Amino acid sequence: PLVTTEKILLDAQKNKYAIGAFNVENMEMVMAVVAAAEELKSPVILQTTPSTVKYASLDYFYANAKVAAQKASVPVAIHLDHGNSFELAMQALRVGYTSIMIDGSHESFEDNIKVTKVVVDACAPSKVSVEAELGKVGGKEDDLDGGDGGYTDPLEAKEFVEKTGVGSLAVAIGTAHGVYKGEPKLDLDRLSEIKEVVSIPLVLHGTSGVPDETVSECVRRGICKVNYATDLRIAFSKGVKEYLAQNPDAIDPKKYCSVGQEEVKKYVMSKMHVVGSVNKA
Ligand code: 13P
Ligand code: ZN
Ligand code: NA
Repeated sequence: PLVTTEKILLDAQKNKYAIGAFNVENMEMVMAVVAAAEELKSPVILQTTPSTVKYASLDYFYANAKVAAQKASVPVAIHLDHGNSFELAMQALRVGYTSIMIDGSHESFEDNIKVTKVVVDACAPSKVSVEAELGKVGGKEDDLDGGDGGYTDPLEAKEFVEKTGVGSLAVAIGTAHGVYKGEPKLDLDRLSEIKEVVSIPLVLHGTSGVPDETVSECVRRGICKVNYATDLRIAFSKGVKEYLAQNPDAIDPKKYCSVGQEEVKKYVMSKMHVVGSVNKA
């Protein structure tokens, strides 16, 4: 069924696992992620960035994800990832998204609080949970270059959560969106310091390319939602490219897209084991 993220994230927090949030960009990726969740009896979050929403339009994409979620035997939330304006957040809320990120991390601390608070207040009556970001997760996020980033300050995080009433918080601890040149260096002590003073579920962004052991350690230290995007794009494209290389005369999208779909499903299943959400549905 279609659910909000509040309950599934609080259960994850209570029982010390995390839920994978997977960026989906077409029907096949939606089907792959939900199939993985059903096979492993895992709750899951489908998420779309503003560029994906722009590609297909909000209602078109939502209709697709909603059918998959409603038919699913496991809890599925539909989340707006890196919502970049109050307007887009409200459009997602109206169309039926069950979870919304308002990313004010590029604003000043005060302006981030302001924009987050108005979205939290607007979403409260419909029980739709809101995620915010404090500090900057760098790298190439969506179609924008997020630059170098800046770490989340634990005391600012505490004040931010108190002043906004936000449901979950994305923290910047050294991950970046996209692929890494070397191995990312994460500030795990900082994560623990944030966890000590902030009681809501914490979110890890930029997880493609982070070693699995490091992700598991982050979950042990309080991460309850783990975002994967780039690696799903890579998996889907790999499947399609391999099929077309072997079958250069192929003309049926169902044929090559289903190979991409299978690659995404395998990838997502492996990450559900890493974050610990298997058999938690
Ligand atoms: P990656 O593309 O590095 O997996 O980052 C995902 C993410 O944070 C989506 O919000
Ligand atoms: Zn992100
Ligand atoms: Na990454």
